[in-house]
Amino acid sequence: MIYADYNGSAPLCKEVTDYLIERLKSGPFANPNAIHHMGQKCKMGMENARAVCAKNVGALPKNIIFNSGSTEGISQVFFSLLHGQREATGKDQIFISGIEHSAVIKCARFYEQDEGYKVQIIPTLPNGQCDIESLKTLLSEYAGKVAMVSVMAANNETGVIQPYKEIGAACAHSQTPFVCDTTQYIGKAPFNFKESNIDFAFAAGHKIGAMTGAGFVLAKDTNLLKPHIIGGGQEKDLRGGTQNYIGFEAIAVAMNTFSEKQEKLKKLEASRNNFEASIRKEYPELVIMGEDAPRLGGTSFISLPGIHGQAVQIELESNDIYVTTSSACSDNEPTTSKVLKAMGVTDDVGRGAVRISLGTCSPEDGHEKILKSLLSAYKKLSKIGSY
Ligand SMILES: Cc1ncc(COP(=O)(O)O)c(C=O)c1O
Repeated sequence: MIYADYNGSAPLCKEVTDYLIERLKSGPFANPNAIHHMGQKCKMGMENARAVCAKNVGALPKNIIFNSGSTEGISQVFFSLLHGQREATGKDQIFISGIEHSAVIKCARFYEQDEGYKVQIIPTLPNGQCDIESLKTLLSEYAGKVAMVSVMAANNETGVIQPYKEIGAACAHSQTPFVCDTTQYIGKAPFNFKESNIDFAFAAGHKIGAMTGAGFVLAKDTNLLKPHIIGGGQEKDLRGGTQNYIGFEAIAVAMNTFSEKQEKLKKLEASRNNFEASIRKEYPELVIMGEDAPRLGGTSFISLPGIHGQAVQIELESNDIYVTTSSACSDNEPTTSKVLKAMGVTDDVGRGAVRISLGTCSPEDGHEKILKSLLSAYKKLSKIGSY
């Protein structure tokens, strides 16, 4: 079996599995907010996890608010920066890139519909990167009117790494809060929050080999945050609800493997590049999304025009290989994803797109095995010619 949907959810990495088996066998289990000894032991474990996470992302423990994952974190930040503030501040503009995850897009649209903000979509270059020059123009055109800019660090479909540091600098220059969805970036590339000019960033356990349902917000200044889930004062009153402390410990274990995995990440990128070159040798018409931009090392988003991505997905699945397509199916007619459309990818290419995402826990011969299967799928499906 080859699992090639790391950008969807990565499997638990071995270090996390080993840790959890022991941890679940031996405890302690308690409410980390209780003042008795067992509660305090759990709290110490959780605070240790916070310190480890902070160190691994170049932040301080006080910058981290643990939560259930990135969707929650993004919702909290949008709420904190936008809710009820349009009239008081006179800032009614929200700038987002055209390739954001729905967690960002839907928040922006919500505040547009509910509170009268105006959402402006920053154009995307054909290479999959947000057009920073257009952003700079927008920032100067709407000086003093921009409530926030939200651009991700790496795209979940293409793996294209965004010029987030430059975007951060432009936002800092215009004193605009910069919200950066780092969900796909943290753990897959070196990241330093302090040096990034980002005001708010996000991490999710299930993208980095830890557990789903656990994550955190990184906030440069937690005073700018408001609780979105109101409750018993946990997380310095910024996120109510008893903490998923074992989930946070698992994130810390996964993060502690980052520095050892740098070498593996380089190998993964080299094997991805060989994989793509080998397909192109057989099929020169192959389209690699974001090929001309820096990309996450484990992600390939490729299309062989004329062959439906979903047909390829099914063929691979029959060989126990699990990939995804980005295309939504309407009336049996796959359509091009929003991300690819923003990049200007036409339907004849977009319909064929298949995302293959591996990670540092994948077997070393992962790409080789997928290559064999993919080439035979392409050969077979080329005879039929899907569209
Ligand atoms: C770029 C990006 N942002 C946000 C999310 C949402 O993360 P979570 O599943 O932790 O809520 C995802 C997950 O698919 C993602 O890829």
